Amino acid sequence: MSIAAGALQGQRVLVTGGSGFIGRHVVSTLADAGATVRVVDLQAHPDPEVDVVRGDIADPEVIEAAFDGGFDGVVHLAAVTSVLRSIQRPELTYQTNVAGTHRVLEGARTSGVRALVFASTNAVTGPMLDPAITERASLRPLTPYGATKAAGEMLMSAYTAVYGIRCTALRLTNVYGPGMQAKDSIIARLMRAIRLGGAFEVYGDGLQVRDYVHVADVVSAMLIGLTNANWSGPVVIGAGRSLSVLEVIDEVRRVSGAELPVTHGPARPGEMPAVIVDPARAHAAGWSPQFDFTTGVTGVWEEWRELEIEGALAFHGADVPPMVGAKRRKGGAVAAPAELKRAAANRRR
Ligand SMILES: NC(=O)c1ccc[n+]([C@@H]2O[C@H](COP(=O)([O-])OP(=O)(O)OC[C@H]3O[C@@H](n4cnc5c(N)ncnc54)[C@H](O)[C@@H]3O)[C@@H](O)[C@H]2O)c1
Repeated sequence: MSIAAGALQGQRVLVTGGSGFIGRHVVSTLADAGATVRVVDLQAHPDPEVDVVRGDIADPEVIEAAFDGGFDGVVHLAAVTSVLRSIQRPELTYQTNVAGTHRVLEGARTSGVRALVFASTNAVTGPMLDPAITERASLRPLTPYGATKAAGEMLMSAYTAVYGIRCTALRLTNVYGPGMQAKDSIIARLMRAIRLGGAFEVYGDGLQVRDYVHVADVVSAMLIGLTNANWSGPVVIGAGRSLSVLEVIDEVRRVSGAELPVTHGPARPGEMPAVIVDPARAHAAGWSPQFDFTTGVTGVWEEWRELEIEGALAFHGADVPPMVGAKRRKGGAVAAPAELKRAAANRRR
């Protein structure tokens, strides 16, 4: 057990968004460390043993119920997490990511919370002006997602300064790992394309570089954020090594043995041209990623390889809007009809 995990024994921690991809890893790691955990989320948690307050973090009554009994720490993950969705739904994005974050901070203030860890993003910074993104990069977000995360960071800066809640904003790069079937980010899309037998659409030329960090490494940074009194404000969390989309595709082909044909579509609005990060501040606090990309993505493929085809199609969470005519599956997951048809055709082959 790490030093950070040891310090969490007996602590009460509220995890907003604890039913989502990263949240489920956070909840199980905190429980293993001996913390008492509650989740507040729109969605149920797959483990019925987990204490969950179901509801919207922007609703004051939900926040009151969530904070009932008091907490030592908060891990704040609940958000509109998709860049594209934030462009389609800027009002919802504002309500969840800014008004909701403010509600969470008020709940923390009125119930005596000492430490809060926030899942922020390098998308707060916008186009790169320096060779690598550090905590000193100026905030010039390109999308409602990036802008609302930046606003969340600003609120936290004030709550740290005025109310003494030590808030740490982890600026995460692309997070991947087991349990991301509901996600629409590149690694999940690649896995889905292999399992469904279709082509993978590259947005733009595929030369754009991104940094990929394993979810287990993100969780260990969150434990440091809860327990290390020297952390507050922004901390860049990433592997410190960037890969182009084409390099990621090659690595996934190598690991899976799949042919994985690609097509090229238009570049997506709001995409950062490049993400290269320097996680030196995190390293100085003793954090370093334990997963290299090949090892991490091999684990993800091993999980997807074993999935029932319906599992590979499962969408869950507020990240991906339920699709019209979608078929609801066991556990509340939703599958898109077009993908279902494609899967059925593949099965018949
Ligand atoms: N996954 C990544 O690559 C990545 C990168 C940078 C930052 N982040 C941030 O990390 C956090 C977790 O991301 P994730 O990948 O686990 O996303 P996710 O979509 O899997 O999980 C988000 C969870 O928040 C819940 N939620 C959404 N709106 C809510 C609301 N109004 N009230 C209560 N619950 C609500 C959802 O139901 C879901 O369970 C997010 O804040 C995201 O912005 C993620």
